[in-house]
Amino acid sequence: MLDPALEPFFDEGLIHDVIRPLASGKEAMIWLCRANRRLTGEDVVVAKTYRNTQVRDFADGAAYLDGRFRKVTSQVRAMEKKNKPGREFSQTFWVAHEFATLSTLHETGCPVPRPIASADRGMLLQYLGEGDTSAPQLRELKPGAEEAGEILAVLLRTIERFLLRDVIHADLSAYNVLWWEDQPWVIDFPQAVDARFNSSAQQFLRRDVLRLCEWAAKRGAETPDATRFADDLWTSWEFAALVPDELRDFS
Ligand SMILES: Nc1ncnc2c1ncn2[C@@H]1O[C@H](COP(=O)(O)OP(=O)(O)OP(=O)(O)O)[C@@H](O)[C@H]1O
Ligand SMILES: [Mg+2]
Repeated sequence: MLDPALEPFFDEGLIHDVIRPLASGKEAMIWLCRANRRLTGEDVVVAKTYRNTQVRDFADGAAYLDGRFRKVTSQVRAMEKKNKPGREFSQTFWVAHEFATLSTLHETGCPVPRPIASADRGMLLQYLGEGDTSAPQLRELKPGAEEAGEILAVLLRTIERFLLRDVIHADLSAYNVLWWEDQPWVIDFPQAVDARFNSSAQQFLRRDVLRLCEWAAKRGAETPDATRFADDLWTSWEFAALVPDELRDFS
């Protein structure tokens, strides 16, 4: 067994085989797996598994956790103590949170990989890629100025669509955007925050917008003033004035 976090997916017959590791980061491993089409709707899926340590240190995670729990539960106390049950709860919590966020966004047509199944330490996701060619990260792309501007416009609209569902990614950058089938897809949501409850939400929104504007500016694109753009978006959200796709005039 390559990674014990994959076990539940084998046990349920959702995947048959690991084809190869796709990426390995500080916190997560990404595996390309052969899947049972009848159960998953796909021949190949990605499994994202978290390491055996905690997914995200509670101290690091505190800003992201703000506003999540109505009262200090025994689990939160355990998380703070960082003992074994606390680490386990922490891990399960972040995975469940990432999966739930992806589900909300995917259901409303946002460009995120389709979430397929989740377990305590990992999840199965739609593979953005074809055969051996997996989608590159946005930072690997070398678009001209005009194209970079167009990509930025799509991504800023994507941020707005997330916000319509009260979601702020909170770690958005050219690392967490993949380019596939001529469009940007946003990935990696464990730290996403709820705009309604997190007291740093507006700052996270500003940082997300700024990082994407910086990417586009580096490629020579004209970019809006990031802080002003983020704050205007925030104000529209506060006044419930964000416009859903179906009501937007694309003419
Ligand atoms: N659905 C997917 N389809 C194709 N490739 C993917 C998919 N999800 C993740 N990857 C690849 O794996 C990489 C890491 O994924 P992700 O950003 O979700 O994990 P991470 O927790 O950020 O890992 P790290 O610790 O490296 O930051 C991505 O940059 C991408 O190259
Ligand atoms: Mg990432």
